[in-house]
Amino acid sequence: MNKRRIFLTSALPYANGAIHLGHLVEYIQTDIWVRFQRMQGNEVHYCCADDTHGTAIMLRAEQEGITPERLIARVLEEHQRDFAGFHVEFDNYYSTHSPENRELSHEFYRRLDAAGMIERRSIEQYYDPVRDLFLPDRFIKGECPKCGARDQYGDACEVCGATYSPTDLKNPYSAVSGAKPVRKESEHFFFKLGKCTDFLKRWTRSLDTLQPEAANKLDEWFKAGLADWDISRDAPYFGFEIPGAPGKYFYVWLDAPIGYFASFKNLCAREKLDFAEFTDAVKSKDAGTEMIHFIGKDILYFHTLFWPAMLEKAGFRTPTYVYAHGFLTVNGEKMSKSRGTFITAESYLKQGLNPEWLRYYYAAKLGPTMGDIDLSFEDFVARVNSDLVGKYANIASRCAGFIQNRFEGKLSELHMGAERLRLKMQSNDHCWSLIGRLYADREYGKAVREIGRFLDEINQYIDEHKPWELAKVEVDSGKLHQVCTTALTLFWYTTVLLRPILPDTAEKARRFLNLTGDHMKWGQYNALPPGHVINRYEHLMTRVDPKQITTLIEASKESLQPAPIPHSQQRHAQHQEQTVETAASGAISIADFNKVDLRIARIVGAEHVEGADKLLKLTLDLGGGAKTVFAGIKSAYQPEQLVGRLTVVVANLAPRKMKFGVSEGMVLAASGDSPGLFLLSPDSGAQPGMKVK
Ligand code: MSP
Ligand code: ZN
Repeated sequence: MNKRRIFLTSALPYANGAIHLGHLVEYIQTDIWVRFQRMQGNEVHYCCADDTHGTAIMLRAEQEGITPERLIARVLEEHQRDFAGFHVEFDNYYSTHSPENRELSHEFYRRLDAAGMIERRSIEQYYDPVRDLFLPDRFIKGECPKCGARDQYGDACEVCGATYSPTDLKNPYSAVSGAKPVRKESEHFFFKLGKCTDFLKRWTRSLDTLQPEAANKLDEWFKAGLADWDISRDAPYFGFEIPGAPGKYFYVWLDAPIGYFASFKNLCAREKLDFAEFTDAVKSKDAGTEMIHFIGKDILYFHTLFWPAMLEKAGFRTPTYVYAHGFLTVNGEKMSKSRGTFITAESYLKQGLNPEWLRYYYAAKLGPTMGDIDLSFEDFVARVNSDLVGKYANIASRCAGFIQNRFEGKLSELHMGAERLRLKMQSNDHCWSLIGRLYADREYGKAVREIGRFLDEINQYIDEHKPWELAKVEVDSGKLHQVCTTALTLFWYTTVLLRPILPDTAEKARRFLNLTGDHMKWGQYNALPPGHVINRYEHLMTRVDPKQITTLIEASKESLQPAPIPHSQQRHAQHQEQTVETAASGAISIADFNKVDLRIARIVGAEHVEGADKLLKLTLDLGGGAKTVFAGIKSAYQPEQLVGRLTVVVANLAPRKMKFGVSEGMVLAASGDSPGLFLLSPDSGAQPGMKVK
């Protein structure tokens, strides 16, 4: 078979946040695939980079009082450290803020313009008059035009799920300054995506493994019609200026996928590879190279419409495959900072958890679809401890000691009692092509299950022949030698089968078995020669202590109440912009504080809630209308003590649907380490509705 030649990428993570366990689904999925392909002898160039441009990063840097360049340099180091920590091994990890990317973005733009694919027209957009800034959708908030919920983003309501455009919001305000935005006209550049419909339909049909759910999505998009794409943003913006258009910048999503090329180009220069062979429309065909993108399902639109259309019209090659995966949930729910399930890569490693536990767990859960995958910590502990340590690592630890202590580390002939199993593991049909196909098809869960079956059989074999019993009887010494040699040989086969998932453990096992790198290629299943000397066994892998999980979750809990701006996992693909996460533990600005609408309220009604242990239902008079609030103060107050009192309430909290009804605000109360809960009251004279500031 001809060797495959692949230029391969994972999505470029935003440079305004830490790598978390959700991201790692993708990078681990890709890394396993890359390692597998290499073991097959294929040529793979795995490139990635930080996605560094956009309003969010600009504002974030400003918030931290540094330049965007400083911010992205720092984050780049953090991201590289995190990926290395999980054995995600890129051939190049670069930045979209690079000379290669600037040049390539210009090149794309020139070619697209020459092909008549760029159009300019004026549009009206919301503008922050205080900050002198056009506001991306996600930086405008207001009341949902559908359900009236307050403080909803400019693109979608998180209460009722409606989607709309920012100009539909009622009482809009800028999430940056709090100011009322004005509508302002400005000229924008558009990429004529509509003109690419025929090409895109053809191209998607040519993707023979386009996932069925992806194909459905694309059909929906085609049916809805492809709108032209706004590819420019006005200054101030952190990005690349459009040539010949001062004050106009490329929208971050234009130069981000070009960043794939830029990272690869940088690699080509270093490794003397031919860039055009992998990227040029004609040369790539002649050379038979492939380009493959691993992405999350939220960015499908960009990778199956905008990006291939840009490539085609600019005379570059189009992607051979786009593989989209689903989203990670933790314990069945969206990752959450307050529940402690928003876990960063750094925090996982800092708590001393083994990165290969997570690689193994994800692999066991991953398939080729866009379905979401759940990290259930109970399941995680069980699988790692019983399968990975109990079934896999234990084979080596049970047998190595005997070889070491009784036979000076030397292996013997194989034992005939495992012939059937050994032959099966040496067979292509029953083992290597079978499991190889599963890896290649991204059916990692199935691959892990198949390998698990072999592990079960090896353990059965050991249990049947009981080396610990054989060791007690002198005349059984020959058999002991053979049984342990056989078990270790089969252990080595499973190590090679698991190597794409467990590169570090495989390397340790290789050293312990005193083998060369050549032995670690796919399908290298020769028996180890009798007399081969192995090294002393050292622990390959320890068990997870469930306490480590508790500590990890505690360490990831955020004391601050709701994160002000949701994380990227919650956004909507088409109109997405990056979001700023305000520094969690750091200082906030007056503007941040002013977002909280604190008001004096009179408690006009208070009652018990049936079935609730902690809650009282309060009716509050805020001067104008009444609000219903469920407050967790039952332990400290009787309803009748409360009626008539004044207190302080957060009036602009998004309404929250609870089991017992909708809560429309939050009353403020003090509490500490010792028991007790103390509702705030204003000094006398304060009236319901007064603002607290
Ligand atoms: N910067 C863009 C990608 C540009 S590619 C030219 C972006 N960045 S991201 O940091 O938000 O996400 C990077 C990748 O991680 C995406 O493919 C995204 O789908 C994936 N994931 C981010 N959160 C995730 C989960 N919670 N679960 C699984 N994958 C997730 O999008
Ligand atoms: Zn709504």
